[in-house]
Amino acid sequence: MSNLTLIEPTKQFQEQYIEMIEEWKVAEEKMVPFVLRYDYENFDSMVNELIKLRDTPPYDEQKVNSSTFWLIQDMSRVVGAVNVRHRLNKYLAEIGGHIGYGIRPSERRKGYAVEILKQVLLKARELGISEALVTCDKDNIGSAKTILKNGGVLDSEAIVNGIEIQRYWISTVNKV
Ligand SMILES: CC(C)(COP(=O)(O)OP(=O)(O)OC[C@H]1O[C@@H](n2cnc3c(N)ncnc32)[C@H](O)[C@@H]1OP(=O)(O)O)[C@@H](O)C(=O)NCCC(=O)NCCS
Repeated sequence: MSNLTLIEPTKQFQEQYIEMIEEWKVAEEKMVPFVLRYDYENFDSMVNELIKLRDTPPYDEQKVNSSTFWLIQDMSRVVGAVNVRHRLNKYLAEIGGHIGYGIRPSERRKGYAVEILKQVLLKARELGISEALVTCDKDNIGSAKTILKNGGVLDSEAIVNGIEIQRYWISTVNKV
């Protein structure tokens, strides 16, 4: 899928990003990863918030830095987003993991989630993560398949806040 590129959030794709968020809102579905829920009315400050999230050591030591990327098709359409936590804390080790991703509703079932996870595993490796924890709700078949197709190995299952979840580890080494 050579026409799909991961990029860091930028004003260059402001219009296309907002168009994606508006589509998601119409679908009335909780947006994942969480950074998609950031207020974008002042676009520059949203981009700055994402840079801060990546670079500024959190005031609260329970919080962790994370990097956000958008998946761009043909350098013209934003089709999804992904967030990589730079380290795990207690909460993320239980649920949340290193990586959260989402594909906009109109672009699903085209292999884009498999691609966004594949590409972001290389970013995770650059961040020094050799084994990435990726979690999903057990009934999220699309996400579980996406993880398995990227070499995920089931570690454990649990019930967290009444929801059955699965935890997978994916090696970021030897990925091309
Ligand atoms: C889960 C999600 C990321 C999948 O994205 P996608 O781009 O549709 O996934 P892909 O097209 O790459 O499909 C990956 C595999 O899952 C399957 N799949 C995708 N959605 C599915 C669904 N709703 N039911 C069953 N299988 C599904 C695909 O068929 C494919 O398997 P195959 O190659 O054996 O056919 C997307 O539905 C989404 O953004 N959901 C909301 C946010 C979310 O749940 N994020 C994951 C958090 S862990």
